[in-house]
Amino acid sequence: MIQTLTLHTVVRVYDSLLELPTDEQDLLLKAREACDTAYAPYSNFHVGAAILLADGTVVIGSNQENLAYPSGLCAERTAVYYTGANHKGIPILKIAVAAFQPSFAKYMPANPCGACRQALLEYENKQPTPIRVILEGEKNKVYVVDSVECLLPLRFKAEFMGLVE
Ligand code: THU
Repeated sequence: MIQTLTLHTVVRVYDSLLELPTDEQDLLLKAREACDTAYAPYSNFHVGAAILLADGTVVIGSNQENLAYPSGLCAERTAVYYTGANHKGIPILKIAVAAFQPSFAKYMPANPCGACRQALLEYENKQPTPIRVILEGEKNKVYVVDSVECLLPLRFKAEFMGLVE
């Protein structure tokens, strides 16, 4: 007999950035600004991420591409790895992600790729509290989830390797 597994994720959809709490508005604006620091000559797609830490620090990252394509890195991982390297042990409260398409001169939806979700999940799992994720959405909407876990159903877990109980 075939059973089904229904996976449930709640995404809050805000009609505009102005409906967010002010700290999240600021964070999304910083993610938008971070798009300017992208190095994206191959895709011409500029992605910016801004991470808010528990001590109030904001860390930004942007996508950094390379002629040898797989050597490039997404904005989210640039930001989270910088955070790990430079702010070790300070919990991450929130991450905002935005994308900018220069040819259309507008911000675009910025749902993190699978590899970035997995990388962010690792940081969420090693701290006591979840990381809220704030994403530039379609038509000026903003998508918010309360944890990285929400973005990664059927995720790979350490238990599967027998590493934790
Ligand atoms: N990109 C990101 O920075 N974040 C994502 O989650 C998806 C894609 C970048 C990688 C590449 O530089 C460009 O966007 C086009 O894929």
